Amino acid sequence: MAENKDNSFMGKVISLSKQRGFIFQSSEIYGGLKSAYDYGPLGVELKRNLMNEWWRSMVHEREDVIGIDASIIMHPKVWQASGHLAGFSDPLVDCLISKERFRADKAPMPKSGDNLPITCIDKGQAKTYLESIKKRFNIELRRNGKVLEGLRVIDENNFGLFNDDEEKPSATFPYSGYVSPNLGCPFLSDERQFNLMFRSQIGPVDVLGDISSFIDKNKNMDGTEIREGIEKIVKKSAVYLRPETAQAMFVQFLNCQQTMGMKIPFGIAQMGKSFRNEVTVEHFIFRSCEFEQMEMEFFVEPGTQKKWLEYWRDARMDWWKGLSNNPDKFRFRTHEKDELAHYADACYDIEYEYPWGFDELEGVASRTDYDLKKHAEYSGTKLSYFDQQKQDPDTGKNGWRYTPYVIEPAAGATRGLLVYLLDAYHEETVPDAEGKESSRVVMKLHPKLAPIKVAVLPLVKKEGLPEIARKIVSDFFKAGINARYDEQHSIGKRYRRHDEAGTPYCLTIDGQTKEDETLTIRNRDTMEQERIPSGKVLESVQKKLALS
Ligand code: GAP
Repeated sequence: MAENKDNSFMGKVISLSKQRGFIFQSSEIYGGLKSAYDYGPLGVELKRNLMNEWWRSMVHEREDVIGIDASIIMHPKVWQASGHLAGFSDPLVDCLISKERFRADKAPMPKSGDNLPITCIDKGQAKTYLESIKKRFNIELRRNGKVLEGLRVIDENNFGLFNDDEEKPSATFPYSGYVSPNLGCPFLSDERQFNLMFRSQIGPVDVLGDISSFIDKNKNMDGTEIREGIEKIVKKSAVYLRPETAQAMFVQFLNCQQTMGMKIPFGIAQMGKSFRNEVTVEHFIFRSCEFEQMEMEFFVEPGTQKKWLEYWRDARMDWWKGLSNNPDKFRFRTHEKDELAHYADACYDIEYEYPWGFDELEGVASRTDYDLKKHAEYSGTKLSYFDQQKQDPDTGKNGWRYTPYVIEPAAGATRGLLVYLLDAYHEETVPDAEGKESSRVVMKLHPKLAPIKVAVLPLVKKEGLPEIARKIVSDFFKAGINARYDEQHSIGKRYRRHDEAGTPYCLTIDGQTKEDETLTIRNRDTMEQERIPSGKVLESVQKKLALS
């Protein structure tokens, strides 16, 4: 990660994430890999705490949800059945001027007669683009500040350059029917299919050998035939990194239900890595190619899906709010009918107010019986449930076999981590040791999420204080609480460091500790200090953590 000079709120959080060891750019010493991140010593703890909290509330604290941990690589037919192999191929286009890559089907579509102003970020960019359009297309647009003018849509297949007051264009170009979203530019590449799933090959045989002999033998084929031939070879051993954790819960529905004797309604939960070749990666870890999800498929009786959708929508919202400082920053967004995935009959997004505005954090969808039916069709295995207690609504007879409907709360774990970093970041003006005003950055992470729960700080590195501090740390370890011994720098600096790490409690061991076996416990948020018996400190912190 290059040094971050961005002084915006987001810039400060990104900078602190690196400085304190929450998140590093992947492979930084090699210049970094775009959109890949490593969770550092504090980040890995925060991520695990967040995901463990989710697991606790979704699986351990419920009788009706069980968990799985499926492989990332699944049978390729899974992705045919789920529609990902088709749906994950989007038509993509590059803007020939700005190099912006975007989805053709989501781009603005100016109609015949519309002007096509090319709107740049600033005048400097406008001058550069004016020159490159001149060089490449042999036309000179008119610059008006940061806007390049003169282009207009002629009809659905052409646009042209129109000089002032002239009816006829002085030059015409083929029109794709849309312009690049940011610049509004109609100079575009052809559409290309782009697979959002990461493809790999399984098995020790390298397909390159087969491909090169195929090309050797078929020198007279045209481009399309060669491509189709290569696709066939690649397909034989192609596998995909999962783009979501959800499909394993459908594929393992019967195994889970039968081995655990689950009765509907019940859910299967999973958390872990997912991979998507995202068209745009943005906002730090908000959208990246490798990320983690926390998903649960809740199988319900047909007809009860509305009730369960509302139940999970509210339960999930309460969970996110319960771990945050600013519950007002979360809201629901109901999906409009034309926005719903074709298999869903309703969906809510849980959104958070990020620095760039409200955006998705979790989707809670009513997925009907689509997924189980699709996997049943593609695998030839009956994925249904028999309820002996119910009457079949069609025949009126006792016993009802049906394909369960599914409610899916699908959350981003790494995106959730970003939310809690943003939620925790506070800058405050507080008195320093001499009573003068000073500023501090404090990460007000919920104690359940905090990477380190207690820092144990000997006031000096001598006079037996480190030994007392280390003994206390070891008592915390034995109790399963992540404590950290810290003797580097002045006590004031150590407090500030742990404020930035989000450590809720600092214990200071000083000369008095040796005399009367007491120590001070400092609260991260209030900065209040209290002297308590050192023999009672473990119990006291345990109580505070349990109450938080
Ligand atoms: N099984 C449904 C599903 O995967 P989704 O809305 O595509 O639904 C669920 O993903 C959640 O996963 C999102 O709400 C978001 O929090 C997270 N997510 C999706 N793509 C992501 C990406 N590229 N980077 C980080 N998080 C992502």
